[in-house]
Amino acid sequence: MAQIIEKVSRTFGEYLLIPGLTTKECTPQNVSLKTPLVKFRKGEKPAISLNIPFVSAIMQSVSDHGLAIALARNGGLSFIFGSQSIESQAEMVRKVKKFKAGFVPSDSNVRPDSTLAEVEAIIEATGHTTMGVTDDGTPNGKLLGMLTSRDYRIDHDGRESLVKNFMTPFEKLTVGKLGITLSEANQLIWDHKLNALPIIDEEQHLVYFVFRKDYDSHRENPNELLDPQTKELLVGAGINSRDYKERVPALVEAGVDVVCIDSSDGFSEWQQETIAWVKEKYNGKVLIGAGNVVDKEGFDYLVEAGADFIKVGIGGGSICITREQKGIGRGQATAILDVAAARDEYFEKTGIYVPICSDGGLVHDYHMSLALAMGADFLMMGRYFARFDESPTKKLYINGNYVKEYWGEGSSRARNWQRYDMGGKGGAMKFEEGVDSYVPYAGKMKDNLEVTLGKIVSTMCSCGSITIPDFQKNAKITLVSSTSIVEGGAHDVILKDK
Ligand code: IMP
Repeated sequence: MAQIIEKVSRTFGEYLLIPGLTTKECTPQNVSLKTPLVKFRKGEKPAISLNIPFVSAIMQSVSDHGLAIALARNGGLSFIFGSQSIESQAEMVRKVKKFKAGFVPSDSNVRPDSTLAEVEAIIEATGHTTMGVTDDGTPNGKLLGMLTSRDYRIDHDGRESLVKNFMTPFEKLTVGKLGITLSEANQLIWDHKLNALPIIDEEQHLVYFVFRKDYDSHRENPNELLDPQTKELLVGAGINSRDYKERVPALVEAGVDVVCIDSSDGFSEWQQETIAWVKEKYNGKVLIGAGNVVDKEGFDYLVEAGADFIKVGIGGGSICITREQKGIGRGQATAILDVAAARDEYFEKTGIYVPICSDGGLVHDYHMSLALAMGADFLMMGRYFARFDESPTKKLYINGNYVKEYWGEGSSRARNWQRYDMGGKGGAMKFEEGVDSYVPYAGKMKDNLEVTLGKIVSTMCSCGSITIPDFQKNAKITLVSSTSIVEGGAHDVILKDK
């Protein structure tokens, strides 16, 4: 007979935190949201820690290079989606690794014999008025001069006039040499009262511009998640248990910092084989997460297989219909509590701490605090990030509201059959496990993170904790009744229109 688990499968909305003693030390400035991404031995440091406990979902509609750069600059990490060709995924990883805060490739370029009419067309297309003048008009051609909107008057000078008559020639330019640091570049900008500094290589080819206006934005990102040696942003990538022998080497070659097997049900021999192959091929040096699981058995299996972190959650995602389609899954809160207990037990037994990630189903900001308090080391979110400017999908105006598109990896739009693969021949999706949807547009990632993290920090202070491990140890959590949930919102008042 089937084993019946009497414990009810619960989710975050059914719990609340009870405040603990807020000591004078518990101020928002003192709170650290640093958290381990990968396993480590007691007393040692993990190879990667996140500066904020957020990672973005391995999804086409969420994690491309643009969102990955934005999230890493804010202290979190993206896993670039794997449901694309190996080449294009590796290229996205490369773009994140190449990104240099403050150093931007020139997107507006002309030749000396280009006309002002061509300059006008470029400004129309890019919105940028600073032009690199290169021998061949490409972003990395030999730098022959620079042209800004202060150098010419199109009505006065005529649209057919040539750039070479107006540009500041190379001999008169202040330039930086490739390898210069951002603070050195900014010093040149200040000393020479420049708006833009071209950076050139040994052969005088244009490589980047550093703009005066970007200086402040760099200072605004104290949490940036960087490789301490190379100062490159960190980035992860999703893989599957089918083409990993080709995909992982390409990603490693592109400079990926960590990979994660992306599957709706990770308790499988396919994942065990994938982890074993990756660990053996790279002598344990390539970091690999696995999942998803929802109980101790699944956790123990993947940890024994060698995984560096474990992702938890089946069927809770906002776009997910797995529970309806297949009848598998578990309330996310119960899953996290169960797996966190297994992680702690494993740590007790072996002295090895394997971080767990709560993946999917986080709706309100307080759910994130609850997930951390219940034992999650970090959180993976799709819907949350899909709403921002930085996500790769279209912003649309529908019925009086701005929205962004957001679709599941198991929807027929994404066709990510590998994520739902059950072995056998594969290659075709027999039924959908996700939907195609819109989410309300929410603006810039940075502004939203400030509010969300502010709430988490404030909750931690209320609970008397200034670190995530303390929060996990000290949190007191209570179940709530449905009537007390009503009590928790605004009630018995007539709300004024917002
Ligand atoms: P969200 O943050 O609630 O939107 O959930 C995102 C998570 O849902 C992802 O990280 C995946 O684990 C999961 N997911 C992504 N696409 C699908 C799908 O099509 N069906 C089921 N789950 C999905």
